[in-house]
Amino acid sequence: MTPSAPPPPQRFSGRTVAVTGAASGIGRASAARLAAEGAHVLLLDRDRDGCEALAETVRAAGGRVDVFLLDLASETSVGETAAAVAAAHPALHGLVGCAGLVHVDGSQENPFLERGLAGWDLLFAVNVRGMAQLVHELVPALTAAGGVVVTVSSEAAYRSRAGRWIYDATKAALVSVTRSMAAALAGHGVRVVGVAPGGTITEMHLQDHADPEAARERMRAAAASNLLGRLAEPEEIAAAIVFAASDDASFITGTTIAVDGGGAASR
Ligand SMILES: NC(=O)c1ccc[n+]([C@@H]2O[C@H](COP(=O)([O-])OP(=O)(O)OC[C@H]3O[C@@H](n4cnc5c(N)ncnc54)[C@H](O)[C@@H]3O)[C@@H](O)[C@H]2O)c1
Repeated sequence: MTPSAPPPPQRFSGRTVAVTGAASGIGRASAARLAAEGAHVLLLDRDRDGCEALAETVRAAGGRVDVFLLDLASETSVGETAAAVAAAHPALHGLVGCAGLVHVDGSQENPFLERGLAGWDLLFAVNVRGMAQLVHELVPALTAAGGVVVTVSSEAAYRSRAGRWIYDATKAALVSVTRSMAAALAGHGVRVVGVAPGGTITEMHLQDHADPEAARERMRAAAASNLLGRLAEPEEIAAAIVFAASDDASFITGTTIAVDGGGAASR
């Protein structure tokens, strides 16, 4: 008889954790892992179908899950979603911000010289402002539970790329926001921790590509230069995010943890 895998730890039993970007990629893997560890997960995304698909899987496994529509580009939507979350969960143990955008007008590349500021407002709204507004509106609920905020930036925060300079700037801004929010919220018993992933195979890089396999191959080639010589699986990034949100990280706040396969060390 094959021995079965041990059950996952239940670090989030009795806790409620909201995850933005939960319909896809790293957010979906994080929400699934949180649910497997006993959390009541709130799936926040603009993609309702993606959230409902995950919700069905979580419920089938006996987990607790709710879906909230959220468009981080709209201050009105963020305000309404935050109000709905806080009304349903006046004590919130975690808020994980995985939602992010790299595309502008269907392209991941927005070269500074050729396209100037195209996409600046949208990328900053989705990647930075929306998350900051969400945290601000949920401070009372997070404070009530002694909660944790996890931001998701990127190794791109520390790079210089002419083609993705705006995306990279949003991720650098998140590193800064993480430090500042941690300072603002420490007195409220709320930790704020960043996770900066390296290249990870998700829909982010494959959507809108006429040839997804070629896109995947380009990513694999780019990741070959990190110390581990490969891309991450979304679950490997989720493991770090869930750790940061757990009591195992009780003395970590105001910093961003690199989960990059040694990408920074290799440069
Ligand atoms: N995949 C990588 O290589 C990689 C590397 C470093 C950092 N990251 C970061 O990790 C996070 C997750 O990325 P991913 O690869 O899982 O991407 P993904 O595209 O698979 O998922 C992103 C999710 O964000 C949601 N989203 C986008 N715009 C939104 C909006 N306006 N309002 C609400 N939800 C919105 C999408 O619907 C989607 O579910 C992002 O912040 C990304 O920048 C990714």
